[in-house]
Amino acid sequence: MTATRAPKLGERVVAPFGRRSCEITRNLASGGYRIFSALDAAGPEPAAGQFYMLAADSGWGGDEGRPYLARAFSVADAERESGGVRLDFLVQAIGPGTSRLAALEPGEGLWIHGPLGRPFAAPRDVSPDAAGAILIGGGIGVAPLALWRRRLQRAGIPARVLLGFRDQENSGGLDLFDCSEIRLASEDGHTGHRGYVTDLLGVLLEGDDASSAAVYACGPPAMLEAVRVMCADRGVACELALEAPMACGFGACFGCAIPLADEGYMRLCVDGPVVRGDEVETALVKGSGH
Ligand SMILES: Cc1cc2nc3c(=O)[nH]c(=O)nc-3n(C[C@H](O)[C@H](O)[C@H](O)COP(=O)(O)OP(=O)(O)OC[C@H]3O[C@@H](n4cnc5c(N)ncnc54)[C@H](O)[C@@H]3O)c2cc1C
Ligand code: FES
Repeated sequence: MTATRAPKLGERVVAPFGRRSCEITRNLASGGYRIFSALDAAGPEPAAGQFYMLAADSGWGGDEGRPYLARAFSVADAERESGGVRLDFLVQAIGPGTSRLAALEPGEGLWIHGPLGRPFAAPRDVSPDAAGAILIGGGIGVAPLALWRRRLQRAGIPARVLLGFRDQENSGGLDLFDCSEIRLASEDGHTGHRGYVTDLLGVLLEGDDASSAAVYACGPPAMLEAVRVMCADRGVACELALEAPMACGFGACFGCAIPLADEGYMRLCVDGPVVRGDEVETALVKGSGH
């Protein structure tokens, strides 16, 4: 299992220096999103919850301007193959950077920097009594949970998966999960429970075994804040994979600073993006979510 000990706040994961060039090996539709893969010949295997800064090596910046800076992406799956580590990313095209990445074709080049940031910690490191995990994802935030579920499964740790989407257009990524025991919710009712995915979490947290599970969440800020509050009210430990606007990804620009629960700030790119629910004042991060 990759994450066996909960990194403490301020304890940083060191990434390989500099950016590396990779080749795109596939790009396929997954509902309203796309999954593209790149072969990283020289990098280490990432841990679930970590992210990469990505930029296409053509059609990026130059005379046309945007997209200029690399964009932050959670790793959605990773597998060592002959020739390197296959990295899968799930993308929702919402602006110039994500649209260019969503259009990458096999054979094109991709600049990657990473794996970066603090990953998910094993359930027993999040809560000593935790025998299993509850993974809850919303929208494009399902990405890091796919890799986390695989790693938990490999370690023989039971995980229940709850995924929610706004509507059919803003849904996808289920191909990454390759399992049948997912519970789904959608606000428009096109699949699963009609309503919020946090409704499903509420039911699970009412159960007797709730206190023996650690909750892991990634999704839009409002969903993450609801999860944080629900877990805090019930005394259930949780980790949240947060987003903030990230210009550099390695601690230099301070653009991703968010308030700590006690006092002061953390830089989400190096102290997160995965944080414990009780470490932050709120999951409603300004400038994040779409
Ligand atoms: C740690 C981390 C992991 C991420 N993982 C993924 C992923 O797996 N898949 C994916 O599709 N996206 C992911 N994102 C979000 C992605 O980085 C942004 O959507 C992207 O930078 C937007 O770039 P753009 O040029 O397409 O759009 P822009 O023109 O830069 O932004 C378009 C809209 O998105 C909003 N936005 C800008 N940056 C962010 C941001 N960082 N987070 C949320 N909203 C933003 C803006 O307010 C604006 O409304 C992640 C972000 C972070 C910080
Ligand atoms: S993105 Fe630059 S300091 Fe975090």
